[in-house]
Amino acid sequence: MGGGTNITDIQTILMNISKTLDAPIKSYIKDGTPSNLIEAIRQYPYAGGKRIRPSMILATCGAVGGKKEKAIPLAVAMEYIHNFTLIHDDLMDGDEKRRGMMTSHVKYGMQTAILAGDALFAKAFNIISQLDVPDAIMRKIMKIITTMVWDLARGQQMDINNEKRKSVTIDEYIETVRLKTGVMFAACTSSGAVIGGASNDVVEDVQEYAISLGIAFQMFDDVLGMIGDPARIGKSASNDIRRGKNTIIVCHALKNIKDPEDMEKFMSIFGKLNASEDEVTCVRKILEKTGSIDYAIEMAKKYTENAIKKLECLGPSEDKDFMIALAKFAMDRSA
Ligand code: IPE
Ligand code: IPE
Ligand code: MG
Ligand code: MG
Repeated sequence: MGGGTNITDIQTILMNISKTLDAPIKSYIKDGTPSNLIEAIRQYPYAGGKRIRPSMILATCGAVGGKKEKAIPLAVAMEYIHNFTLIHDDLMDGDEKRRGMMTSHVKYGMQTAILAGDALFAKAFNIISQLDVPDAIMRKIMKIITTMVWDLARGQQMDINNEKRKSVTIDEYIETVRLKTGVMFAACTSSGAVIGGASNDVVEDVQEYAISLGIAFQMFDDVLGMIGDPARIGKSASNDIRRGKNTIIVCHALKNIKDPEDMEKFMSIFGKLNASEDEVTCVRKILEKTGSIDYAIEMAKKYTENAIKKLECLGPSEDKDFMIALAKFAMDRSA
C-alpha cells in the first residue's frame, strides 16, 4: 500500500470521516413539511453509504495545504448531489434495494422519489451559495459542479441507451462511465483543490486522478453487481443481468464467448427481466468461464495505477496517502 495506508486502515479512516460528516449531513434536512417528502429526502443521506465523495473533497483540500473545516459544507453538498443521483438512478434502473434498504421509489412512490432527488439537488446549491469563500472561488466551484451534473446526465442517458443496443465497445463503455461516475469524483477533487487554494496545474492533475479512479470504481462496481454479496453491497447482484446492462464484463464477453451453446444461453437470458435465479447463475458462470470478470478486474487495476501516478504533483502528507489508498480501495472492496 502506498504511503503506509492499507485497505483495513482506509475502511477505518472512511468510517471516522463518515462519523465526522454525519451531523453536518443531517443538519440541513432535519425537518419540514410535507412529512412524507421530508422523510424521503432524509432517507438516503441518513442511511450513510461509504461517503467516499465528501471524503475526497476534504482529503484533496488538505493535501494541497488548505483548511479542511472550510470544505465541510461543500462536502455535504456533494454528498447530497450524489444521493440525488442515486435516487433517480434507482428509479431509472428499476432497482429495489440500496444501502440495504428499500429504494426511494419503492418505499415512497415514483413522484415522491423524483421530488426528493430534486430537493436534495437544490439544497446542495443552497449550501454552496453560502460558502465562506471569495467570489472568484465561488464561481470556479459553481462551474465545476454544474458542468459535472450536466456531464453526469449525459453519461446516465448513454448508459440507458446502451441497454437497448446489441453490443457496446470497450471505448464506448469507458466514455459512458467516465461521464456517469468519473466526473463526480473529478468534481470532488477539483473543487476540494480549488477551495484549498491549489494552482491550476494541481487542480488539473487531481482531476485526472479522480477520473481514472472513478472509471476503476465503476468497473469494480460492475464486478460487484455480478458476483458481489448482496448483504454486503446492500443492492442486487442479479439486476444488471436481468436489465441487460452493457457493463465492461458484458462488452468483453460478447467478443469472447467461444462456445455457440454458451452464446445461445447467454442471449436468451441476458436482458430477461423475469429471469430466474438459476438462469442468472447460468449467465454468471458463462461470464466467469470466458474470463470477462477477471478482465474487468484487470482493467480496474490499470486505471487505479494511472490514477495514482497523477498524484506526483502533491507533496507528502497523510491526506495524499489517503488518496492513494482510496484509489486502491476503488478496485479492491467488498461493498
Ligand atoms: C454508487 O456509489 C454509485 C456508483 C457510482 C457505482 P457508492 O458505491 O459510492 O455508493 P455509497 O454512497 O457508498 O452508497
Ligand atoms: C451509478 O450507476 C452512477 C450514478 C448513480 C450516477 P449504476 O446504476 O451503475 O450504479 P448502482 O449499481 O446502481 O449503484
Ligand atoms: Mg443503478
Ligand atoms: Mg444506473
